[in-house]
Amino acid sequence: MEWTFPRFSTGRLAASIAKGVVLREDVFLQTKYTFRRGQDHRLPYDPKAAIPEQVEQSFASSLAHLGVERIDSYLLHGPTSSNGLTADDWAAWRAMETIHDSGRARMLGVSNFQIEQLQQLCEKARVRPRFVQNRCYAGLGWDGQVREFCRVHDVVYQGFSLLTANRSILAAKQLARIAARHQRTIPQIIFRFAIQAGMIPLTGTTDPAQMRADLDVFDFHLEPAETAWIAGAGTP
Ligand SMILES: NC(=O)c1ccc[n+]([C@@H]2O[C@H](COP(=O)([O-])OP(=O)(O)OC[C@H]3O[C@@H](n4cnc5c(N)ncnc54)[C@H](OP(=O)(O)O)[C@@H]3O)[C@@H](O)[C@H]2O)c1
Repeated sequence: MEWTFPRFSTGRLAASIAKGVVLREDVFLQTKYTFRRGQDHRLPYDPKAAIPEQVEQSFASSLAHLGVERIDSYLLHGPTSSNGLTADDWAAWRAMETIHDSGRARMLGVSNFQIEQLQQLCEKARVRPRFVQNRCYAGLGWDGQVREFCRVHDVVYQGFSLLTANRSILAAKQLARIAARHQRTIPQIIFRFAIQAGMIPLTGTTDPAQMRADLDVFDFHLEPAETAWIAGAGTP
């Protein structure tokens, strides 16, 4: 299946679902639990509460904002440390597993995880992550190690900042030539590359024309030489 996830404002989406303009089953809802350090002033939980309670409060807040009873995918926004998984990470994951057990989150996932952290999680998780959502740098082989782990272990990789993290690649003449050959824009070429590489490309825009263009990437294919060039573009 080929998906892209455009971004909606939470309030508008809730209102559209409530009015029946958008059917709940037609949208894929994904949200996250974020540790205190990554939150701004709009904290959706009591910071003094234990981690499992924070996760539960944060999840309840998401359901209320979205006006729904069930989330399709619930993510851990990022681990507390860049090395390994801490007791707090595990406490959050176990609380997320409990939410999954209750049927309120159909699938679980993680974000901003390094390969070792993903390996550790998959070894000991009772409910395995279905998604990994990572910033996708061309300079790191488009997060090649993590994507390979996902491919082997049947985890779906969501790549974000495909445009904003890779501005020098986007400006490359070779990429402009590929875009001209297919009569597509450079963002369309990047999203098409991501899909052919097995990712779900995430993006967001305030411009309806750009959003339509970003979604219009399912009726052409990049040639192997073109994907090979893009795959290697960020590495020396
Ligand atoms: N897990 C995490 O920690 C994390 C962090 C960041 C983002 N994310 C997720 O990833 C999604 C996308 O992230 P991102 O913003 O970094 O994505 P991105 O695709 O790299 O950048 C989006 C930016 O590119 C612009 N853009 C989109 N389509 C375009 C087009 N066709 N032509 C020209 N410009 C275009 C947008 O324009 P406008 O200025 O016109 O809107 C926006 O400023 C977010 O919505 C979020 O769901 C996750």
